[in-house]
Amino acid sequence: MSKIGIIGGTGLTSLDELSIVSTESVDTPYGSPSSELVKGEFAGKEIIFLARHGKDHTIPPHKINYRANIWALQNAKVSEIIAVAAVGGIHRDIPPEKIVIPDQIIDYSYDRRHTFFEDNLAHVTHIDFTHPYSELLRQKLLQAAIDSKVDVCESAVYGAMQGPRLETAAEIRRLERDGCDIVGMTGMPEASLARELNIDYACCALSVNWAAGKSESEITMEEIQHAIENGMIAVKSLLEKFLLHR
Ligand code: HPA
Repeated sequence: MSKIGIIGGTGLTSLDELSIVSTESVDTPYGSPSSELVKGEFAGKEIIFLARHGKDHTIPPHKINYRANIWALQNAKVSEIIAVAAVGGIHRDIPPEKIVIPDQIIDYSYDRRHTFFEDNLAHVTHIDFTHPYSELLRQKLLQAAIDSKVDVCESAVYGAMQGPRLETAAEIRRLERDGCDIVGMTGMPEASLARELNIDYACCALSVNWAAGKSESEITMEEIQHAIENGMIAVKSLLEKFLLHR
């Protein structure tokens, strides 16, 4: 049977509500995933949870083995992934603690192993990536937001930066001119690798700070932590409704 995978990001290294059935360390042809695969039940549904930055949150965005993570989930029969991610808000409607279900991506990341299609190919393969997220999954997340009475931003362009540093104000102005509404560091190549393996993928992003230059003050880890603590409560209730209706 196909399963749902949840990739937890900053602020979601575990799901306390998950009743764990088993944990599995897996090896893949691409190396080790960020964490064990935690198999369990959440809202009565079987899910597989993976902590993107490792269970102790020690792997920075540019060091994540995205290929191993996606491959391991597919190998565990996951056919749908919800990627939870902390982001900075660029658009004025996306302040800290706002949840966003993005519909587009611009990839500014570099020097990441970003494809499964590079060695021993029978033929060169180009995936269609016009719509980087599964529209069906996005709609289900939006319905879950309504059901859980969580106010979300229904579409947004996610700018994927290299990190681990935050951006300069000028970089954020550039992203804004490009049409980005939110900025994060892990959205790519995660989304395109999922597409390469035909896994439906959507993102539930939580704004945890105003992007650089979008507020008077500097960005502090305290402010980010505060937004994560408050915002993840809503993310979890949205996920719960999402799973209830599966
Ligand atoms: N920039 C990039 N990634 C982020 C940010 C940000 O401001 N906040 C959380 N992840």
